[in-house]
Amino acid sequence: MKDSNFLKENNARHMWHPMAHPADSLANPPAIITGGKGVRITDVDGHETIDAVGGLWNVNLGYSCQPVKDAIAQQLDALPYYSTFRGTSNDAVIELSYMLRDFFAPDGLSRAFFTSGGSDSVEIALRLARQYHKIRGESGRTKYLSLKKGYHGTHTGGASVNGNANFRTQYEPLLPGCFHIPAPYTYRNPFNETDPEKLSNLCIAALEDEIAFQGGETIAAFIMEPILGAGGVIPPHKSFMPAVRAICDKHGILLISDEVITAFGRTGSWTGARHWGVKPDFMCTAKAITNGYFPFGAVMISEEVVEVFESDTSGKAAIGSGYTYSGHPVGAAAAIACLKETERLNVHENAAARGAELFAGLKKLGEKHEIVGDVRGGHGLMCALELVGDRASKAPLGKDQIARIHEVTYANGVMVRVSGPNIILSPPLVLTTDDVNGILSALDAGLGAA
Ligand SMILES: Cc1ncc(COP(=O)(O)O)c(C=O)c1O
Repeated sequence: MKDSNFLKENNARHMWHPMAHPADSLANPPAIITGGKGVRITDVDGHETIDAVGGLWNVNLGYSCQPVKDAIAQQLDALPYYSTFRGTSNDAVIELSYMLRDFFAPDGLSRAFFTSGGSDSVEIALRLARQYHKIRGESGRTKYLSLKKGYHGTHTGGASVNGNANFRTQYEPLLPGCFHIPAPYTYRNPFNETDPEKLSNLCIAALEDEIAFQGGETIAAFIMEPILGAGGVIPPHKSFMPAVRAICDKHGILLISDEVITAFGRTGSWTGARHWGVKPDFMCTAKAITNGYFPFGAVMISEEVVEVFESDTSGKAAIGSGYTYSGHPVGAAAAIACLKETERLNVHENAAARGAELFAGLKKLGEKHEIVGDVRGGHGLMCALELVGDRASKAPLGKDQIARIHEVTYANGVMVRVSGPNIILSPPLVLTTDDVNGILSALDAGLGAA
């Protein structure tokens, strides 16, 4: 490795960072992370912190998951690559598809389509949804509905259903035929409603209204995160996703559950859809499927959709979508080992228990620090603090103050993620109570320094 002087000197000078202004990366060079162990990361200066970001919602088992590392190394030796395009396959991906079928059986999902990540998974689900309707002779069903504040990656289809202007405006015009309804976000919503159940009903009414306006027979799919993540951790009322499912059924609209962050235990349940008692038609997964150690994803497909594709005799069900790295054997081997560890450790149970501790501690911080406008969580290890300059007007806290909170929290031993006015916490699911307390006390120091 190059020495630390070289790294600091060249940091952000020859690359553009995702989700960052190039000039900002030059002016405020990013933290250079050079090591990871357990739930901790170390920077180029040797400063160690708890990683309360969990990589990027993906390192659920921490940085020392030896079985996944070994599986990757062994697969690299045995077969470092082979394609799964028509006519070929590999042993690892077959074994993985068998395991995923069992894992997702309670969600009613029985086939996998492999991808290289979350945005890829979203794109495939959107495409297959349209194809499903075409096979069935309903080629007019081409539109997509989604939630404002939702995040579905940055491919053009995904960006079109995204509900945040930051990921859209500079790339418009996006895909035509995408429409958004208000998110069940109690802190800020167009109905000025703070009761979660009432707000859920209002959002559902808006969905019904939009479907009536567009014409149900023109809509291919509704895509949503069971708990909105990147948009600032927005858990809907428990009635919301079941109500969406019922409306989709009524109108023949497919339901895509985007579980790029919620699949594999983060919510305290094995999947977000299961958390709410819903069976989707497609489920997008990625991230924790390999513990973040290899770029990989899977779209899981429901029995009903499977039946339509597999019984087609017209030829319309031939899948004209796929990636060079779909079913990559190294990714598949990583996912097999990761799934075994995920199940062996029952990480969803720890996510629920530690998540409850973290949420309770954050609520106390919210009472103590005036700049905390809203505290969200309560469903596993995904929480957020929304920061405000003034509680009455809910004006967002200034960028400099938020940067200071980040800096002081980091100096006190915890890496958190800042996204707009939100501090987002998505630590590894193998966190201990001591780690939770460490996160809370560092954040206390950070918030106190704003
Ligand atoms: C819900 C959701 N969908 C899609 C994506 C995109 O995944 P990727 O960044 O792996 O392309 C993300 C990424 O955070 C996500 O949270």
